[in-house]
Amino acid sequence: MKITSLRAIEIIDSRGKPTIRSFAVLDDGSIHSASVPSGASTGSHEVLELRDYDPKRYQGFGVQKAVHNVNEIIAKELVGREVDDPRGIDRWLIERDGTENKSNLGANAILAVSMAVVRAAAHAVHKPQWKYLNEYYFSEYKPAFPRLMVNIVNGGRHADWNFDIQEFMICPVATKPSESIQIASEIFLRLGDNLKSKKIGGLVGDEGGYSPTLKSNEEVFDTILESAVTCGYEKLKDFFFAVDCAASEFYENGEYTLKKTGQKMNATQLTQYYSELGQKYNIQSFEDPFAEDDWEAFTRFTQLARQFQFQVVGDDLFCTNPNRIKAGIEKQAANAVLIKLNQIGTVSETVDAIKMTREAGWKVIISHRSGETENPFIADLAYGCGAEFIKTGSMSRSERLAKYNRLLEIESGIR
Ligand code: PGA
Ligand code: ZN
Repeated sequence: MKITSLRAIEIIDSRGKPTIRSFAVLDDGSIHSASVPSGASTGSHEVLELRDYDPKRYQGFGVQKAVHNVNEIIAKELVGREVDDPRGIDRWLIERDGTENKSNLGANAILAVSMAVVRAAAHAVHKPQWKYLNEYYFSEYKPAFPRLMVNIVNGGRHADWNFDIQEFMICPVATKPSESIQIASEIFLRLGDNLKSKKIGGLVGDEGGYSPTLKSNEEVFDTILESAVTCGYEKLKDFFFAVDCAASEFYENGEYTLKKTGQKMNATQLTQYYSELGQKYNIQSFEDPFAEDDWEAFTRFTQLARQFQFQVVGDDLFCTNPNRIKAGIEKQAANAVLIKLNQIGTVSETVDAIKMTREAGWKVIISHRSGETENPFIADLAYGCGAEFIKTGSMSRSERLAKYNRLLEIESGIR
């Protein structure tokens, strides 16, 4: 089938800021859309999200330039083209942009088109998106449901620095969405009741987790545990803990400064702190425990992690960039990669990052951004490539639930 029209519009994301949605129309009249998320604790090696910087509109956050680039530049070339070759279309987008960081057309413009093309291509062969992704890109892997990483307490930049750790997550052991979502939701609801009854807040942060006025990281884990036990769930048997430290956000001039207490630590002291915390609470996974270019600290922590069986995840460290992942594999700087489509800007480069991660024997975590839309693309991607984990926020806020609900839909077999 051919693309007969390609258009983009400016829409609003979960933080109320503009983002881009594109629409690919096929010659059977069907319309396929995709919208692009946006980070807050972004890595400095991410591709460029093109904004207008016009202070008269949306505090400068407008994306009319990116919309223009889809409507006036990309559409002119892609309309009339067969939709059966998404990788070829991505290749053309990358070449037409011509820059390392996609700053010419804007990575947001490029990704909006890249995802809509995959959707259209799946429709053209009458397949659900996950199935299309699996057969077209991941035929060597079996589709499988990922374990969830559910961010039930938000800190750091996502919640005004109530804690230094940005995300306190629970990971149900069950993989079937109808089971894992139930466990996560029950713990989340009970935690909310608990926090409200103690009058320490039931309000939620950017990713839908609570943002209570607890005093320390330890208190957060204890309160979650208390809530889980009341629901009848046991740590290690039913769920594990995971954290995203997003440590680039509290790193300055070679030191880590905990914002809450003002305490300064070097990488060795921070390593010590993480291993104590990890053993005490059975934290299974540490994401970005160190700053994005502190390779040495990552490598040392990964060595230590073998002993405790911690998973060490690179998010800002790798920025879903195959070159950085390759460097990380050589340095043995982690053992898992957080995959975010908009850190690299096309579906096919995201696929390359996933495959490289897999070939190294590392774990794949498909992730949302803190600024999201109702687009559930990552749920299909996670199932279609058989990712070990999906990280898509808490059990609240519809932009997060869109992904969980899509997993439930896939499980149902209806589409
Ligand atoms: P971000 O946060 O989308 O603000 O970068 C998510 C994360 O750090 O994993
Ligand atoms: Zn992160």
